[in-house]
Amino acid sequence: MVKFVGKINTAVFISGRGSNLKNLIKFSEKKISPIKIILVVTNNKNAKGLNFAKNKKIPFLINNFKNKTLSENKTIKRIKKNKIELICLAGFMKILTSNFIKKYKHPILNIHPSLLPKYKGLNTHQRVINNNEQFTGSTVHLVNSKLDSGKIILQRKIKILKNDNPKTLEKKILKLEHKLYPDAILKLLANF
Ligand code: GAR
Repeated sequence: MVKFVGKINTAVFISGRGSNLKNLIKFSEKKISPIKIILVVTNNKNAKGLNFAKNKKIPFLINNFKNKTLSENKTIKRIKKNKIELICLAGFMKILTSNFIKKYKHPILNIHPSLLPKYKGLNTHQRVINNNEQFTGSTVHLVNSKLDSGKIILQRKIKILKNDNPKTLEKKILKLEHKLYPDAILKLLANF
């Protein structure tokens, strides 16, 4: 049985399209959802995903992360002010410093489009195809100071078909992620 009381203040960090953000917002509006998204953070003022926050009147914070220390400090300040107890990275293409991770005392989740620990980093779909992998997938994991390396919370896989290419894999994996991320959040918070 899930034990949390009330919904957990959550921030979602994005850099671009934001389909996972859109989906997490939808999830957060369900009764069974343990989270309430009260802040969206981006390093990209032109991120398309910001429109999902705007449409739902969710406050957002833009910090370009060019000066990482400055941007991270501003972000931490806001996160503390808003009493954010969960951060979900969803297509956030900046690496948080160990200083940020140390200062923030609550879980940070990330979704990565590969079967971690395989294919950390960028261009995962192209690399799995180049290596003739049979399967690929996506992973939700806790963030630590090493890239794509924290404890795995949940992972799902799909079979790579003969005629798949990076575009078809991206599409299939995004669809899978839209179920995976909410499921991973439920799993993480059920253990609190
Ligand atoms: C997602 O597939 C996510 O797994 C990936 O970026 C995409 C974002 O899509 N994340 C990474 O590659 C992080 N290393 P979205 O903006 O539509 O949610």
